[in-house]
Amino acid sequence: MADLEKEKESAARKSLEWVRDGMVLGLGTGSTAAYVIRLLGLRVREGLRIRAVPTSASTEALARAEGIPLVTFADVKELDVAIDGADEVDPSLRLIKGGGGALLREKIVAAAARQVLILTDSSKPRESLGRFPLPVEVVRFGWELVAERLSRLGVTPRLRRGREGTPFVTDEGHYLLDCPFGTIADPEALARTLDAMPGVVEHGLFLDLADVVLVGRGESVEVRER
Ligand code: A5P
Repeated sequence: MADLEKEKESAARKSLEWVRDGMVLGLGTGSTAAYVIRLLGLRVREGLRIRAVPTSASTEALARAEGIPLVTFADVKELDVAIDGADEVDPSLRLIKGGGGALLREKIVAAAARQVLILTDSSKPRESLGRFPLPVEVVRFGWELVAERLSRLGVTPRLRRGREGTPFVTDEGHYLLDCPFGTIADPEALARTLDAMPGVVEHGLFLDLADVVLVGRGESVEVRER
């Protein structure tokens, strides 16, 4: 049985090889990104000069606690490297993201980065995407209509709920519909359909964004590049 936490940490350690003094980074969200942020915090305390844009309130809080200087897109227009986790990755480096609920900011940050580095443990690579329920971020007004339209695609969307049982609200104030497609035969076609659906703000298909995927595998880290 693989130690997935160790694999995430190994991938995080490896990702620091892409970080140079003076860079502006995008900081992802989730347990794997948290390893990166803690390791970067150590380096910053040793003298590494970086600035970063966080992809969620939780990442912002952790980065602040680690002493990583933060900036916004009012300060920078482009990022050198975005480092993030993923929920699934296929052989073409297409991803499903959003399990942690931060997909909207994550996609904005990834699209602003010259290089996107994705880190996973050995459970995330798949032959095809879709076993992980695809998160679709929707405006609250009329979310029921979007759920109905999604169900016409042959999926039963589930409104994501928080701990109290009330709907989970993203950092940008939206709801999430988790869509268990099973297998997504044509991710590009599905992305186009979702992009054209009124009420959909963003979805977790990251199809042309990852440049490098680091997969923790036992004691080693596999590097997959486009
Ligand atoms: C956050 O919204 C997600 O996109 C995460 O990047 C993804 O869920 C991976 O999370 P873990 O690193 O916790 O597995």
